[in-house]
Amino acid sequence: MNVKEYFDLSGETALVTGGAQGLGEQMAIGLTEAGARVVIADLNLDKAEEVASSLQKMGKESIALQIDVTRKEQVEKVVSDVVSRFSTLDILVTSAGVGQWVAAEEMSEEDWRKVIDINLTGLFFCCQAAGKEMIRRKKGSIINIASMSGIAVNYPQCQSHYNTSKSGVIQLTRSLALEWAKHNVRVNALAPGYMQTKLVEDLLVKLPEYAEQWKKYTPMGRLGDPSEIKAPCVFLASQAASFITGSVLVMDGGYTIW
Ligand SMILES: NC(=O)c1ccc[n+]([C@@H]2O[C@H](COP(=O)([O-])OP(=O)(O)OC[C@H]3O[C@@H](n4cnc5c(N)ncnc54)[C@H](O)[C@@H]3O)[C@@H](O)[C@H]2O)c1
Repeated sequence: MNVKEYFDLSGETALVTGGAQGLGEQMAIGLTEAGARVVIADLNLDKAEEVASSLQKMGKESIALQIDVTRKEQVEKVVSDVVSRFSTLDILVTSAGVGQWVAAEEMSEEDWRKVIDINLTGLFFCCQAAGKEMIRRKKGSIINIASMSGIAVNYPQCQSHYNTSKSGVIQLTRSLALEWAKHNVRVNALAPGYMQTKLVEDLLVKLPEYAEQWKKYTPMGRLGDPSEIKAPCVFLASQAASFITGSVLVMDGGYTIW
């Protein structure tokens, strides 16, 4: 096979949680450009529908479904709707996530539970529901969106629940990779550094000077453009990564090197 063919996702069905904006939207575009049909699943159905219709304009099938990843029954329904509509579920990208800055000593129980519920427990529900279908068909690739915050502790902002959730995503990814390798289901994680998305822009509203500090600590001297996640996602989803499972692809402009 010519190396370009390894990246071809024609005929494959991908489900992208959190696909209505930010990194999820960019990965949905990348998967579509590589030939997949993409299902956008997000809490925000209006925005998910806008993204799905822009993917349709690229000449590919795409639909939007509403999901709250913290609700196990909704996650299972979305996976079953995808399979009954397209017969396959080959790729899962788990991009639904939230962030918050709050000092540990001031963090409420609600703050802690919300971030862990969405970023870790919800992500597990998605992997479990999609994984069952992939195991049944003996084929699948899961790309969990972790963060460099799962490896290093960010500075100067305080986000212990977020960092904990993302290191949980990394260890969950490795655990599932080990359990599901025998079923031909690969499970990998992408660990982005600071990417200029709405999540980051919203956090920066009160403390815009943090962006300058982050750039100073990043060897490449800049934040990532959201579109820079498209190709790494397609790589992990595709046959180009056929012997790669349980790995964490860090894309952070060098932030965690030192
Ligand atoms: N932007 C960054 O710098 C950065 C860096 C590292 C990791 N990440 C991770 O990447 C992922 C995407 O981040 P982003 O910057 O694109 O964020 P974003 O806020 O732009 O998009 C997140 C999406 O998730 C959806 N969502 C939130 N809660 C949900 C729920 N309970 N169920 C379903 N959907 C839900 C939102 O509606 C939104 O569309 C997150 O997991 C985030 O932690 C982001």
